[in-house]
Amino acid sequence: MLVLGIETSCDETGIALFDTKRGLLSHTLYSQIEMHSEYGGVVPELASRDHIRRVLPLIKETLLAAKCELHEINAIAYTQGPGLAGALLVGASIGVALSFALKIPALGIHHLEGHLLSPLLSTPAPNFPFIALLVSGGHTQLMQVDAVGHYKLLGETVDDAAGEAFDKTAKLLGLGYPGGAALSKLARQGQAGRFKLPRPMLNSGDLNFSFSGLKTAVLTLINKQEITQQTSADIALAFQEAIVEVLTEKSLTALSRTGLTQLVVAGGVGANDQLRQNLSSKASTKGATVFYPELEFCTDNGAMIAFAGAMRLQASPDKTWSPASSFTVNARWNLEMLEEPGN
Ligand code: KG4
Ligand code: ZN
Repeated sequence: MLVLGIETSCDETGIALFDTKRGLLSHTLYSQIEMHSEYGGVVPELASRDHIRRVLPLIKETLLAAKCELHEINAIAYTQGPGLAGALLVGASIGVALSFALKIPALGIHHLEGHLLSPLLSTPAPNFPFIALLVSGGHTQLMQVDAVGHYKLLGETVDDAAGEAFDKTAKLLGLGYPGGAALSKLARQGQAGRFKLPRPMLNSGDLNFSFSGLKTAVLTLINKQEITQQTSADIALAFQEAIVEVLTEKSLTALSRTGLTQLVVAGGVGANDQLRQNLSSKASTKGATVFYPELEFCTDNGAMIAFAGAMRLQASPDKTWSPASSFTVNARWNLEMLEEPGN
């Protein structure tokens, strides 16, 4: 079964072709980061307009790279939410129009389900059940993943997402948008131990997070110092250490509380090398294994959407799918409310 995946929830247009027998055949991505960086963040209206420009050429490019024709596609999977409503509408309307024209099913996919399942695209892949640490620009959650469509929320951020905290702190340090990767690069030159920042909610007893206070602590620190390149690097390192420690400790607690031994890290902040090193070494001392999607599948992409669609289709072989004739997008959408495949 050949599934075309379409991702347009935020500032990346991602397209992919996933075949249930042959795996991922091709995927393409266009990032709008450069366009938005001028404004210091994503401008929703510009994002939607750019998705309109990119989506069809990318679908053609993806088909060409996989040496496939449009009529060979068996199903369409598009991101239905959560995300920017206007941006989501672009992928949903193209997906549903193609489904109608080709007389094939269209599945609206939850963006975070895509992230949660993305580690299964890599080898070695984890087996169900596992814990997923979802750390992106918009979300920070610990989930228990028992099977496709069976997700239990264990904890989440009560304010800023981890990626958002990286981006806001990077902005305070004059690093541009989005600043996660730049902050992490700067932190490599930082001197450990010069500054110590709070570890918010580390001992809260639950699996929730809070990151907005960290950025305020950084601002206070910046206001007290003469900011040289070295001081910036030292602050960046102190910030990264604080966030990495909280994410690591809560993930380990989630493993011990559930008795599970596999941790999957998904979302853009999963690209952070200090987080990866810290999680892997601490987890191994507890007999647990950490799985990371390939870097290109950590951030938003079409492959995870095509894959989630294929998994859902496979999990409900008896269901009769009819081509879509109408659609809706969900700018806000609780992952736990997702229907199980087959319903
Ligand atoms: O998953 P993603 O591509 O988009 C969302 O759905 O939000 O994640 C983007 C986020 C941004 O906040 C970005 O700054 C952060 O991931 N990020 C990083 C790194 N690379 C990307 N944060 C920390 N360290 C990195 N190396
Ligand atoms: Zn995402």
